[in-house]
Amino acid sequence: MNNPRHFLDIDRLDAKSLRNILEWGKAYKAGKPPEGDAKPLDNKCVALIFEKPSTRTRVSFEVGIKQLGGYPVVLEPGGSQLGRGETIADTARVLSRYVDAIMIRTTREEKLLELAEFASIPVINGLTDRTHPCQLMADILTFEERLGSIEGKVVAWCGDGNNMAVSWLQAAARFRFELRLACPEKLMPPSDVVNWARGEGATIVVTGNVEEAVTDADCVVTDTWVSMGDDVGDSERRMKLLSHYQVDQKVMDMAHKGAIFMHCLPAYRGKEVAAEVMDGPASAVWDEAENRLHAQKGILRWCLM
Ligand code: CP
Ligand code: NVA
Repeated sequence: MNNPRHFLDIDRLDAKSLRNILEWGKAYKAGKPPEGDAKPLDNKCVALIFEKPSTRTRVSFEVGIKQLGGYPVVLEPGGSQLGRGETIADTARVLSRYVDAIMIRTTREEKLLELAEFASIPVINGLTDRTHPCQLMADILTFEERLGSIEGKVVAWCGDGNNMAVSWLQAAARFRFELRLACPEKLMPPSDVVNWARGEGATIVVTGNVEEAVTDADCVVTDTWVSMGDDVGDSERRMKLLSHYQVDQKVMDMAHKGAIFMHCLPAYRGKEVAAEVMDGPASAVWDEAENRLHAQKGILRWCLM
């Protein structure tokens, strides 16, 4: 395949392609796939590489690929030569001879980029230490199901300026919504991404103050305080830094009336989110998890059409 269509990050795609992917995801969810496109993966195989644990990403990709007519092959370091030091580049060259696309969940972003460089088939980012774009597509889908077009709306992020925060920043630029991030000073999102989003015309507020971020927001989002790439030995320090950033009912009450709560999951009640919010009426988290399946079917179709 010449110039394979990779889905590496939100900032690498234009707004129109992202919108098309989302609309296809919505159509698949509604059971009305684009004309002639019920099974765009007919007899195609997608390799799923997991260098980190997963529940949602693994199951939603496996099920979505099958629903689109294809079949998945899962590779984990413990059961493949990746775990014995075969390079990403060689893995990319070999897999390109067998399968039609590769999804990878990995640690450093460089590994994702190396895979894309040496693969002659589309590569999909299923999470790195830096970003999680598949999740963002599901999140935008969920927001729009509940509250209509996200353009011009306000999303507030509370907590760690992690890989999800980076993908939210990239999405703010492409989908044209205001993003306010409340993070402790030592866990702010990377400034190059904040500057990039602002340079693209996005309204981005970065603050240490939860109230400033959340007041009148349409959606409040958070994520775990200890991500898979974080040093577990550092957990206690992170918990202390983040202890004032929990999303509880008081925080939700600052938001716009009818605001929703989102979380990519897995969630830790009593840490980044109080149970009253996670399990309360504003929570959209189960639809959000379901929407991984639908949004990724849009991504797979875009990559392989
Ligand atoms: N949200 C998400 O990516 O979940 P998993 O880690 O279970 O795949
Ligand atoms: N920030 C989290 C997201 C998990 C889906 C992590 O990287 O572990």
